[in-house]
Amino acid sequence: MPANYDNSAWFYDRLSRLVYGKALVWSQVYLLKHIPANSNILIAGGGTGWILEEIAKVRPSGLTITYAEISSNMTALSKKRNTGSNKVIFINEPVEKIENDSLYDLVFTPFLFDNFTEQTLQQVFTHMHTRLKPGGVWLDTDFRPTGKWWQTFMLKSMIMFFRMICGREANKLTDIEGQFERHKYKVIDKKSIFEECILSTA
Ligand SMILES: C[S@@+](CC[C@H](N)C(=O)[O-])C[C@H]1O[C@@H](n2cnc3c(N)ncnc32)[C@H](O)[C@@H]1O
Repeated sequence: MPANYDNSAWFYDRLSRLVYGKALVWSQVYLLKHIPANSNILIAGGGTGWILEEIAKVRPSGLTITYAEISSNMTALSKKRNTGSNKVIFINEPVEKIENDSLYDLVFTPFLFDNFTEQTLQQVFTHMHTRLKPGGVWLDTDFRPTGKWWQTFMLKSMIMFFRMICGREANKLTDIEGQFERHKYKVIDKKSIFEECILSTA
């Protein structure tokens, strides 16, 4: 079952900020400096679309952004965002189902992969990998296991909650870093926050 956040669209941002403060926002905003001017970018699982407003602060014009979001409620909220003069193409579909020949200078997966089982992670990763131009940049931010009991407790609670509400398929974190290593990505920037349990990588 896909991790469709339709049911949580109206409270997702408030809840995530209540639990993690601004950590989920900072971890993504930190990476935006890597977006090249006038680039063609793909964002998968952007949620309510607040990231589009943050991108417009860094690059107010010249970008073409394909915004793939499986949830129609999340997509509807995203369409209301102030995206500056950037061109945004909203696609209300799973990113791995997009059938076009576009290649991207940069792809961004903000808290997308933690929703997936190992099998779906591989499928989605491979699909996006084929869409990134050689030498392109992949921005990723997500949870990572740290072994600390209170973080494990928070993560497990979050996973259970979103499994119930949104049909999230994964019941544990998968090896996201392993995917990047297997596909020979070179890390140019890496920052962990929230006591190391959130990792932002370019
Ligand atoms: C955990 S939320 C993160 C939302 C946002 N990135 C944020 O940090 O506020 C994951 C988002 O990915 C979307 N999603 C899940 N699977 C997807 C897929 N295969 N393609 C595109 N979006 C997907 C969900 O609907 C949800 O909005």
